[in-house]
Amino acid sequence: MNSLHGQRVLLGISGGIAAYKTPDLVRRLRERGAEVQVVMTPGAKAFVTPLSLQAVSGQEVRSELLDTAAEAAMGHIELARWATKILIAPASADVIARLAVGMANDLLTTLCLATDAPIAIAPAMNRLMWANVATQANMATLRQRGYAVFGPGEGDQACGEVGAGRMLDPLELVDLLVGGSGPQVLAGKNVLITAGPTREPIDPVRYITNRSSGKMGFAVAAAAAAAGAKVTLVAGPVNLPTPAAVTRIDVETAAEMHAATTKAAGDQHIFIASAAVADYRPDSFADSKIKKNDSEMNISLTRNADILADTAKANPALFTVGFAAETNDLEAYARGKLERKGLNMVAGNWVGGGKAFDADDNELLVVWGSGKQVLPNAAKTALAKQLVELIAGRYEATK
Ligand code: PMT
Repeated sequence: MNSLHGQRVLLGISGGIAAYKTPDLVRRLRERGAEVQVVMTPGAKAFVTPLSLQAVSGQEVRSELLDTAAEAAMGHIELARWATKILIAPASADVIARLAVGMANDLLTTLCLATDAPIAIAPAMNRLMWANVATQANMATLRQRGYAVFGPGEGDQACGEVGAGRMLDPLELVDLLVGGSGPQVLAGKNVLITAGPTREPIDPVRYITNRSSGKMGFAVAAAAAAAGAKVTLVAGPVNLPTPAAVTRIDVETAAEMHAATTKAAGDQHIFIASAAVADYRPDSFADSKIKKNDSEMNISLTRNADILADTAKANPALFTVGFAAETNDLEAYARGKLERKGLNMVAGNWVGGGKAFDADDNELLVVWGSGKQVLPNAAKTALAKQLVELIAGRYEATK
């Protein structure tokens, strides 16, 4: 599973400066064993020549929808059926918009409509075009439809600006397409994950939240997908790209996270609750901005429902993993949550003093039944892989 042997990858290239990286991308895909068919939009040809791509792919490059000679060799519907994976890199703002509205006005968008194959896109554009609400709305639509989104990365841009919008490097894209390099310990399993904070509105401009960045939960989602699981990620408001091959449901409040989790839980084998859910919400929401005056302001709070405990109770066959964020007595509190919420495992982490919340690294004390294991301090991406292997092992042990 670490290779692309037997995979037929349709590489869609749209018009953007990052297209100059695609001959290398084709080479990397073929090195991993994939058969590659390149499809270019007319705009892509301004940045890289079909001849170069034909030379590295070993296949005639396709770009016209109404090309009688090419259609006679392999019609566009056949081409759409031929692909086992579609990767669009670079995906320009224009192609993203056309995919979002379901247009079929060139060969690439037509193939995307006519295929059953999973589609991954690697956005690449100027940072303001990427941040534009229109692009973000189109991305949300594509994510909801199950498109995997690889990147974009951040850094210096060809236009001289600095920010998010760079296409990921060919090697990163190939790794993401392969689905990671670890053992497939969760193959065939459905895994539901909550991540990030929740926001509890006070009025149209204010809310209660916490310091969770979502990095831990997103890393767990990426690791679970790389381990072969079908992952559904219920994400609070965070500023992170969706990990490859993960279905993401964006929510804002604890109540929305509760509803999305409850809806998805029935089909799952494993539930991992890494979200930092607000324990309380304001009793009421003021429709208009609350005006300050000279007296004190008091906000009365109501307890939010416990998503993890409720989900564990309603789905007794589900293997449930909670997190515990503690400033002291970590093991005792983690074990308390294990018992009280009726869980299979709890991953405890020390918080406060810059630890865990919004950090790139973390350390976990994982407890279950009579067992425990320390996962020493490491990057959250590396730690998530270890946690996923531990969860998979405990899951198998309980079956
Ligand atoms: O997002 P990062 O910046 O990467 O930070 C990661 C993290 C510190 C947020 C993460 O590692 C973590 O510890 N998440 C759980 C934080 C938390 O809220 O812990 P808790 O001890 O309050 O809650 C215990 C468990 O119950 C958690 O699994 C939580 O998701 C769940 N819970 C809590 C309250 C609630 N209403 N519903 C829940 O599901």
